[in-house]
Amino acid sequence: MAATDLERISNAEPEPRSLSLGGHVGFDSLPDQLVSKSVSQGFSFNILCVGETGIGKSTLMNTLFNTTFETEEASHHEECVRLRPQTYDLQESNVHLKLTIVDAVGFGDQINKDDSYRPIVDYIDAQFENYLQEELKIRRSLFDYHDTRIHVCLYFITPTGHSLKSLDLVTMKKLDSKVNIIPIIAKADTISKSELHKFKIKIMGELVSNGVQIYQFPTDDEAVAEINAVMNAHLPFAVVGSTEEVKVGNKLVRARQYPWGVVQVENENHCDFVKLREMLIRVNMEDLREQTHSRHYELYRRCKLEEMGFQDSDGDSQPFSLQETYEAKRKEFLSELQRKEEEMRQMFVNKVKETELELKEKERELHEKFEHLKRIHQEEKRKVEEKRRELEEETNAFNCRKAAMEALQSQALHATSQQPLRKDKDKKKF
Ligand code: GTP
Ligand code: MG
Repeated sequence: MAATDLERISNAEPEPRSLSLGGHVGFDSLPDQLVSKSVSQGFSFNILCVGETGIGKSTLMNTLFNTTFETEEASHHEECVRLRPQTYDLQESNVHLKLTIVDAVGFGDQINKDDSYRPIVDYIDAQFENYLQEELKIRRSLFDYHDTRIHVCLYFITPTGHSLKSLDLVTMKKLDSKVNIIPIIAKADTISKSELHKFKIKIMGELVSNGVQIYQFPTDDEAVAEINAVMNAHLPFAVVGSTEEVKVGNKLVRARQYPWGVVQVENENHCDFVKLREMLIRVNMEDLREQTHSRHYELYRRCKLEEMGFQDSDGDSQPFSLQETYEAKRKEFLSELQRKEEEMRQMFVNKVKETELELKEKERELHEKFEHLKRIHQEEKRKVEEKRRELEEETNAFNCRKAAMEALQSQALHATSQQPLRKDKDKKKF
């Protein structure tokens, strides 16, 4: 046998022995202690409502919790999807519930819906991050920490009777690894019974074929396994919301009244509202909280810590050391910083060189331009000079010609003034 195998055997914990008690000790009260501690501490539950504007989100929340939450109507002109959380303190018997309802305001209202899911994903991640930061603090106060992690996402499907919109599929696909999704068909009173049946089958088929994982009510706890299995087959729930009370027989019930009849919210023949309330609040609220912590948050935490360089040790390797990981990460960070600094310095030097070259090139161009202009100027000067000389020569020639002409004229004048005298002399001779 190898030495390491022997070591492992000797280090293995011995099996605990089963003993019977001689009388009542009292630790059977542990579950009661847990219950009373939890009750005094209170519970928090956070619901995210995703669905297009006016689909009936606020009405359904009011109907579910049988109260009126102050909510304002959303505008149809939001530039992008905005998450609006509102927290309420509710009390039923002696149980306090800190309920946060987060509305995805403006969902589906934009012309370009490509990034509609992003603010929702970012919001869910931000709540995980807040919790992780609290966990990583040296002085952490998880006991009275207001946990804002989303426990369930109610995804409101428009009752078209056709198929899911691509926006619905994309959004649910992006959210399914981050939150428990319960899809619901809203305003189910606007769709006929036979159409609703086909619509439900179609939706489930599309979710499966696109690999969208919706929340499945757990069937591992015997007490609720049967009802949860039945309810899983009813998904997506087709719900109707109303806070209006209508008299049916001698009872006042919450319903929507139409000229042709009354749709009762809590009548299981009319819609699945009761099923949703049972599953969401009365049977599986704790499982939704638990799944959020153990599945979705755990996945976020694992990815985040791995990203930060932490890793668990496997059996054979050295035990995981926080100090070593921190040192390694610090070294990595410093060398990365140095590399970035060097890169920036190099970039700066290159930039300076480039600018210098550009300036030189500009100077050379300017110089060439100047030389060119100078040459043109000299050429023009030379031409002007030539022209001036020519003009001077012409002026001189002209002056000469003028002088000659003047001389000729004066000679001619002189000659004409002498002629009559000669004629007189000639006459006298005869
Ligand atoms: P925003 O917050 O503005 O996005 O709207 P919302 O999704 O909260 O819808 P809201 O609950 O304000 O309801 C919008 C309209 O739909 C109101 O006139 C409601 O009366 C009506 N409505 C709500 N639920 C139902 C329903 O189940 N069936 C029908 N037919 N109408 C409903
Ligand atoms: Mg609303």
